Amino acid sequence: MNILVTGGGGYIGSHAVRQLREAGHAVVVLDNLVTGRREAIPNDVPFYKIDLAETEAIAQLLANRRIEGVMHFAALIQVGESVQKPLLYYKNNTAGAISLLTAMRQTGVKKFVFSSTAATYGEPEETPIYETTAQKPINPYGWSKWCVEQILRNEAYADRDFAFTIFRYFNVAGATADGSIGESHDPETHLIPNILFAAMGKKEKISVFGTDYPTPDGTCIRDYVHVDDLVAAHLFAMTAMKSGETRYYNLGSGSGYSVKEMLDAAKTVTKREIPTEYVARREGDPAILLANSDKAKKELGWKPQYTDMAAIIETAWRWHATHPAGYEKTKRRQ
Ligand SMILES: NC(=O)c1ccc[n+]([C@@H]2O[C@H](COP(=O)([O-])OP(=O)(O)OC[C@H]3O[C@@H](n4cnc5c(N)ncnc54)[C@H](O)[C@@H]3O)[C@@H](O)[C@H]2O)c1
Repeated sequence: MNILVTGGGGYIGSHAVRQLREAGHAVVVLDNLVTGRREAIPNDVPFYKIDLAETEAIAQLLANRRIEGVMHFAALIQVGESVQKPLLYYKNNTAGAISLLTAMRQTGVKKFVFSSTAATYGEPEETPIYETTAQKPINPYGWSKWCVEQILRNEAYADRDFAFTIFRYFNVAGATADGSIGESHDPETHLIPNILFAAMGKKEKISVFGTDYPTPDGTCIRDYVHVDDLVAAHLFAMTAMKSGETRYYNLGSGSGYSVKEMLDAAKTVTKREIPTEYVARREGDPAILLANSDKAKKELGWKPQYTDMAAIIETAWRWHATHPAGYEKTKRRQ
């Protein structure tokens, strides 16, 4: 298929580009590089430096490249920033998606795979979280994605040929097995890279927020899914989606790891000490966030390959240890 990947210069998008090409699809990337990196996009992949707001430019791209489906990863992703700058998040993530969908309407592109988030569940009413669990976001980031989900439902109702798959990701982690592409956020807010930065001495220490949660070791439990497993589900969805179908899936491993367990696993993988400080709880952190992803397994035939936390951390370590400054070093060389 001819597939447009938005946000292909970002962490997950760059892994999607790689897998799609390996599977024989023709890939085109759209990214404004606000947080993404040109270096993450292979030179022989057609790249358009376009903002999601540029509806006409996107429509032209879709038509010229005869795009058949869109994987929409492009977004701003920082929860804290979204609380400070809600309008920016609604503009970029929600209005940006409207612009993209408008361009798709104009050009008759009818297949859409959307990166939503566990943040749409807020502090969930049940554990594990099912696709049917009530969605009650607790920050503008989560709401900006929830709004897109709602818009997609309305669009599919209005246009009976329009098909979408919504994936609600839990914590995406790791890097491609050869360590050549990986996570390079600035600032980095995710736990595994930050633990590894502390192991490398790039960060003074890792702060663990809260040791009195109702969990076996008192620290929060989260669900981690390897980036290549996550992306594989997108390929299944894009090729399986039939005209007019609307699908929803959680993507997580279904296994929870506490922050302390993550630290132990990282120590084993890196064979280094990880300076750690234990501090008070952070506001808005639920004790346990765990996905039930049986639906994706059953309906898409999705089989995550990475079931062991140490194996996930090992891939991230391979990337960070060889790219201590993320893509910066690559940038300077060019
Ligand atoms: N990383 C996670 O754990 C996680 C969890 C849940 C959901 N998600 C979702 O997955 C998607 C990808 O996340 P990521 O970790 O790869 O983020 P990322 O920041 O690495 O990548 C996002 C990409 O989108 C681009 N982008 C942002 N706004 C744009 C705009 N207006 N126009 C064009 N390009 C734009 C950025 O330049 C960047 O390349 C996001 O939609 C995010 O909400 C990620």
